[in-house]
Amino acid sequence: MSYPYQITSLEQYKADYKKSVEEPEAFWGNIAENFQWRKKWNKVLDWNFREPKVEWFQGAKLNITENCIDRHLATMGDKPAIIWEPNNPEERVRIVTYNRLHKRVCQFAQVLKNNGVKKGDRVCIYMGMVPELAYAVLGCARIGAIHSVIFGGFSAQSIADRLYDAQAEFIVTCDGAYRGNKDIPLKSVIDDALIGNRTVKKVIVYTRTRTPVSMLKGRDVWWEDEMEHAEHQVEQNGVVSFPAEEMDAEDPLFILYTSGSTGKPKGVVHSSAGYMLWTNYTFVNVFQYKPGDVHFCTADIGWITGHSYILYGPLSAGGTSLMFEGIPTWPDAGRFWDIVDKHKVNILYTAPTAIRSLMGFGLEPLKGKDLSSLKILGTVGEPINEEAWHWYDEHVGKGKCPIVDTWWQTETGGCLISNMAGVTPAKPSWATLPMPGVQPILVDEKGEEVTEADEDGIIKGNLCIKAPWPAILRTTYGDHERCRQNYFATYENLYFTGDGALKDADGNFRITGRVDDVLNVSGHRIGTAEVENALNMHAGVVESAVVGYPHDVKGQGIYAYVIYGHMHNNDEELTRKDILQTVTRVIGPIAKPDKIQFVSGLPKTRSGKIMRRILRKIAEGETGSLGDTSTLLDPAVVDEIVKGKL
Ligand code: PRX
Repeated sequence: MSYPYQITSLEQYKADYKKSVEEPEAFWGNIAENFQWRKKWNKVLDWNFREPKVEWFQGAKLNITENCIDRHLATMGDKPAIIWEPNNPEERVRIVTYNRLHKRVCQFAQVLKNNGVKKGDRVCIYMGMVPELAYAVLGCARIGAIHSVIFGGFSAQSIADRLYDAQAEFIVTCDGAYRGNKDIPLKSVIDDALIGNRTVKKVIVYTRTRTPVSMLKGRDVWWEDEMEHAEHQVEQNGVVSFPAEEMDAEDPLFILYTSGSTGKPKGVVHSSAGYMLWTNYTFVNVFQYKPGDVHFCTADIGWITGHSYILYGPLSAGGTSLMFEGIPTWPDAGRFWDIVDKHKVNILYTAPTAIRSLMGFGLEPLKGKDLSSLKILGTVGEPINEEAWHWYDEHVGKGKCPIVDTWWQTETGGCLISNMAGVTPAKPSWATLPMPGVQPILVDEKGEEVTEADEDGIIKGNLCIKAPWPAILRTTYGDHERCRQNYFATYENLYFTGDGALKDADGNFRITGRVDDVLNVSGHRIGTAEVENALNMHAGVVESAVVGYPHDVKGQGIYAYVIYGHMHNNDEELTRKDILQTVTRVIGPIAKPDKIQFVSGLPKTRSGKIMRRILRKIAEGETGSLGDTSTLLDPAVVDEIVKGKL
């Protein structure tokens, strides 16, 4: 496989960038020629950010799985598509070749069909990181069903909300999942999520942990039985086939729920053609992928990073993607390095929080591990501090691997701002330059472009994008107005990212973090309103306010101020634990506050609005600079909160 659109020099980057902005249709139309289409497009791009409406490759027909699998079979059928590393290092590694992937995806598409799944139906996938998760995702794409993968750490209540929002009729899950020394009972969580559910007709259960599960007659079926049956249907005389559904370029490929500053998580919808192009293009360029390289993205497929850079990006490029079931610290903190050594990993893509957490174990876990196969390192999910950047560079990359700092979001489908490994310059803790086709702009509160730099030549503002790139979200599922409100209404004719950023005189961007009420905890996006809703569901909680504060490992920690009615047994510690249980039940363990401070009141304006600015300052420990508190309804409450700070 060759990538004629792979950028190999800074000059070429500049030329391609210019062309992509001046003639986007010619630029992307040309790149699209490198994919397999059932029918080519009538028009490359049609858009406005008012409605918003964005359509790429109008009139084109394709199936993304033919691009990710079938087109590689003739020349690379026996090459590894997925290398699977189990949670337990003693267990057998599984190598899934493109031929095998083809067979399993065809089989699973047949299973879905046998169970009544049709094009456009929503299939929720709640599984651990096993190859079967990849078969499930791609099986959906093959028959044109819309997959909605839910991270294995979300609670039954969160799943129930997502099932309802998507009106999902099918679920694919596992009996359980291994993560470190834990077995997580996924099917039992699904059973809880289905209490009162009226839409789900079938649940397909893959056996991973042999945890006993309840199987409801007529609804629950075993993956293994279904696959065995389907094998005879898709394989005749040794030839495997399951015709891929013909999809329109703009047909939805998947929904992925993500947190915003208000309300419940929203279902971000990505399309087929634009998303395919973008994940492939950014994979090939940012990571400078070369055929045969082993790419190890440590994310979970429950998040966008896993969708784009474990599955669709690498597979559409005929690459080899390493999929890891476990966690970086089990059986010990050398696990990533063992994996790099064992599988001769060439590209390692992980999150700053993982790097910081591994830094905490010192250099001992790196001793004796051969990391010489590594060529390129990447980070994603949150700003990377310089200390972590240098540690990664020095101790993992041994000073010879370019580090790509990739800034992007669930809504953007793939990287928007990032250096290209070894091609465009890196700058520690800066995401640097936009990808071709991406036009970032920094604006002030009123939406005016900020052009004035400070004495260091730095411009500061809210990060927006001026024009659509192929993988921009198309809508939020079932509620297009919400999509408009969230991303396109803050500033006219701009996509608003929710992030603040700096820009230097060379045009490099540094992302400083969210400017809305969204937290980034260990690279996971969590809305403060969501956590408050969960806290307020606890019987004793009268009111609460949640803010972020700097956390050495997690990037941000969650600080909750809680007005409490009645203490359980008059015991503060027990009450805290009770409250954490409630949050775990309502959202999942990732949303548990790190600190809960009991207060008798919250700082509010006379109109009843909580002054989060003050609470944020207190949580950050900056109690000396609280600003003007005289407009508060009850200024005394601030003194009390400062005194009780945890
Ligand atoms: O604040 C930015 C931060 O993560 C947010 C997006 O989160 P999510 O949709 O979960 O996607 C994460 C994986 C793409 C952004 O709004 N973020 C992501 N990458 C970076 C980052 N902040 C700084 N630097 C990055 N490289």
